[in-house]
Amino acid sequence: MSWKERPRAQAVVYDDPAALGRAVARLSALPPLVTSWEIERLKAYLADAQRGQRLIVHGGDCAETLDDCNPATITATLKILLQMSLVLIHGSQKPVVRIGRLAGQYAKPRSRPTETLTIDGKPVEVPSYFGDLVNHARPTPQARRPDPDLLLAGYHHAAMTLNFIRSLATGGFADLHHAEQWDLRFLTNAQLSGELRERYQRMSRDVRSAIRFAELVGEGAIQEVSRVDFFASHEGLHLEYESAQTRRVPRRDGTYCLTTHLPWIGERTRAIDGAHVEFFRGIANPVGVKIGPGIDPQDAVALLRVLNPKREPGKIVLISRMGAAKVDALTPILHAVEKSGEPAVWLCDPMHGNGHVTEDGRKTRHFDAIVAELRGTMDAHARAGTVLGGVHVEVTGQDVTEVIGGASGVTPERLSENYATACDPRLNYAQALELAFILSGAMSGQVGQTAGDLPA
Ligand code: PEP
Ligand code: CO
Repeated sequence: MSWKERPRAQAVVYDDPAALGRAVARLSALPPLVTSWEIERLKAYLADAQRGQRLIVHGGDCAETLDDCNPATITATLKILLQMSLVLIHGSQKPVVRIGRLAGQYAKPRSRPTETLTIDGKPVEVPSYFGDLVNHARPTPQARRPDPDLLLAGYHHAAMTLNFIRSLATGGFADLHHAEQWDLRFLTNAQLSGELRERYQRMSRDVRSAIRFAELVGEGAIQEVSRVDFFASHEGLHLEYESAQTRRVPRRDGTYCLTTHLPWIGERTRAIDGAHVEFFRGIANPVGVKIGPGIDPQDAVALLRVLNPKREPGKIVLISRMGAAKVDALTPILHAVEKSGEPAVWLCDPMHGNGHVTEDGRKTRHFDAIVAELRGTMDAHARAGTVLGGVHVEVTGQDVTEVIGGASGVTPERLSENYATACDPRLNYAQALELAFILSGAMSGQVGQTAGDLPA
């Protein structure tokens, strides 16, 4: 059965279906944004992560905007993902794969399809902002009208973003390893104990000297050392956009979604009989699924069976986002999946279950809750004998003030200083690096330890 006949959560209503048809036809004729061999390579890396032989760092903006397609923002995101991954390599002694929430993270699910604005003193109901792929964030009726031409604008900006990333990844990015690129000023913050500060400084020194060593030894193979793999990922929310770039490719079985390497299905669109699951079960890419504390463990198993009937390793990435207070809900899900024998790569998203709204109406998250969910998730996996394959975070390389806490010292009062997100609050550069230090420390403690015995 086609996805078009299934109930579609978060559907966008266009007032000009013919214009939508033209945009989709044009998108279908344009070249793919990614290739099937890149997708298969990622799937093989994910299969390693499933076996505990590799870690995944999956992160980036909550809502990427078309304006984010600029060199400063792209390099800042790549830089923080790269530095997080180097810190994790150090602690886990495993290779790490970086996957950005970018080059297409332009469509957002919303809790309400419309909102009421006050214009000239009168209430006016307009569509909510569904991301730059659909409409504009500006609070006017014109800006909020879903515009099919934005599907093409999204495609073009994704292509430009990927083009820049590919150039950087094949060499030009090497200087980001270097000492002057690591901004460790936050370590001098008074809130960090002297012992921790020293431990983090040592970790970053070790990482940088290991890279220098590899570069010196590798003289002839310097290209290899400086070559960095980055993959792209976004929520596959807008099914017309995804389907227009979904096709068969020469000399391969199956159909590939070529807008991105790793599309994921969100917590709000994962109904087993819904359009999103129906669409994504038909493609060869690895597929992520967000799962919150409300999921019945047997539904998680059912999703795995529907989305991966051939039980391919590295194919389905279950991204748990329970919230620190409900992290216990993960354990029965881990047990049910383990008992079923269905393969899954497990990532922890410690962001989306930990949101709250401040008194003056800002969405925020507390760094301590994020750390607590991550630790609770590691613990749950250790007890269940399952493998945590990595993390999924909302992060920016910029110095924003959106998440409270951490050594960088963002207080509730400071949130308004540089609150720049188009949707959810993101870890800033220092908070992201600190989280990587904490995770890396916990993972190095884990080596040789028995289940359930993780450092606090
Ligand atoms: C997101 O990742 O930005 C998101 C909306 O997540 P979830 O589907 O987990 O709520
Ligand atoms: Co988000």
